[in-house]
Amino acid sequence: MNVEEKPKFENEQIKRQKIFIDKIKKINDEYAEKTGKRKTMFISTFGCQMNAHDSEKLEGMLVEMGYSYADEEKNADFIIYNTCCVRENAENKVYGNLGYLKRQKKLKPNLKIALCGCMMQQDSVIQKIKESYKQVDIVFGTHNIYKLAELIYTNLETNSPVFDIWKEHGEIVEDLPSVRKYKFKAGVNIMFGCNNFCSYCIVPYVRGRERSRSSADIINEVNALVNDGVKEITLLGQNVNSYGKNLKEKITFAELLREINKIDGLERIRFMTSHPKDLSSELIYAMRDCEKVCNHIHLPFQAGNNEILKRMNRNYTKEKYLEIIEKIRSEISDIAITTDILVGFPGEGDKEIEDTLDVIRKARFSGAFTFLYSKRTGTPAAVMEDQVSEADAKRGFNRVLQTLNPIIFEINSQKLGKTYDVLAEEASPSDTGFIKGRLRDNSLVHFKADESVVGNIVNVKITECKTFYLIGELV
Ligand code: 5AD
Ligand code: SF4
Repeated sequence: MNVEEKPKFENEQIKRQKIFIDKIKKINDEYAEKTGKRKTMFISTFGCQMNAHDSEKLEGMLVEMGYSYADEEKNADFIIYNTCCVRENAENKVYGNLGYLKRQKKLKPNLKIALCGCMMQQDSVIQKIKESYKQVDIVFGTHNIYKLAELIYTNLETNSPVFDIWKEHGEIVEDLPSVRKYKFKAGVNIMFGCNNFCSYCIVPYVRGRERSRSSADIINEVNALVNDGVKEITLLGQNVNSYGKNLKEKITFAELLREINKIDGLERIRFMTSHPKDLSSELIYAMRDCEKVCNHIHLPFQAGNNEILKRMNRNYTKEKYLEIIEKIRSEISDIAITTDILVGFPGEGDKEIEDTLDVIRKARFSGAFTFLYSKRTGTPAAVMEDQVSEADAKRGFNRVLQTLNPIIFEINSQKLGKTYDVLAEEASPSDTGFIKGRLRDNSLVHFKADESVVGNIVNVKITECKTFYLIGELV
């Protein structure tokens, strides 16, 4: 595919930010010359893979500005919290940390504190920060992370707090520098935002409407990553199945997968997240046909009861969900299906949970993220009448886990004695001498090997099964 000429806006923004990056680099270089040490940075990331990916871009920009890495947050000169607001406890953690940073800043007046990410897109949060967390220097949102250098520069020049939050997204700015956590695998944004407005979810309010990147930009990025040693990519979006809907070019997610599958040197393609309502047969066929697309799909179902699903605004029924699972399994027999389950949505009692348990038994998930419903101000569910008590929600949650975990263990156990392709990812922090890796179906395996295998795809024979991971040996 040809490299498309970039829209003018992007080029201008990148040029403009480069000027600010250079200015800060000069300041940081001078500081290093004078003091013999570099200014250091520390980024804390909360929430999903999208945030993790944004943090890689923040890191890339900070490295270009001449910051080095702090070993710990308390030793850093520049701290960024890239925040999440999907559940209340993620927000509380940020406030808790900010309380601690207030004391740190008293000890170290030159410490700079920046906040960004989804939490910052909410007016109530901004108000609270302005009133109660005056030690914060820079605040920006999800739509303008590319402006980091300019915001830092403005703060240094004016020596007063800088708030820059956009309600609406601008154009997608391409080609930001980025520091990847892993050399051999990378996330690639294919779209931003979400139009689904599930009634419990704050994401559409803080990440804005769906917009897709052009396929040329995506393919150029994947090519560049592969040339740089990447073997596995994960295509990222809140709802990847509706990729392409707002683009001028006519392209679907299934077609994009087929294009990316042609890229030489790329070994594995993953994607997340899929919404069941948009999962087309065309996508299932593309997954079946494309040898690089891994045999795994993450397909959140949230709840099994049709009345609850309706009130969640999910746009599918339990029967429809199970039908999709059956269709996927009939085309791709060895596929692993994982899911998200939300427990304690308003009106969900013991009877409704039965339907969730029924889906778990029938769909036979290989893994699941289970969440207790968290009330998010501004969403329709927050003002629904029949909110569930914490005790009832927890009881439902435990029943979900009791049903899920034995099935996950059973599915894992079927791998015993078999050999699989594993991408070796990193040394296991808990098991010395062991490496953590992933099968194509996304199962996690620990196996004995030295760190030289990291980044390679190796053969591992499964020797033991636990509920949440496998143990194996190199063959
Ligand atoms: N409370 C708890 N979990 C939530 N999720 C989204 N909104 C909420 C909420 N208000 C979960 C959903 C979604 C995942 C990313 O987060 O299960 O799939
Ligand atoms: Fe939230 Fe629903 Fe959009 Fe997922 S699809 S981000 S749960 S609104």
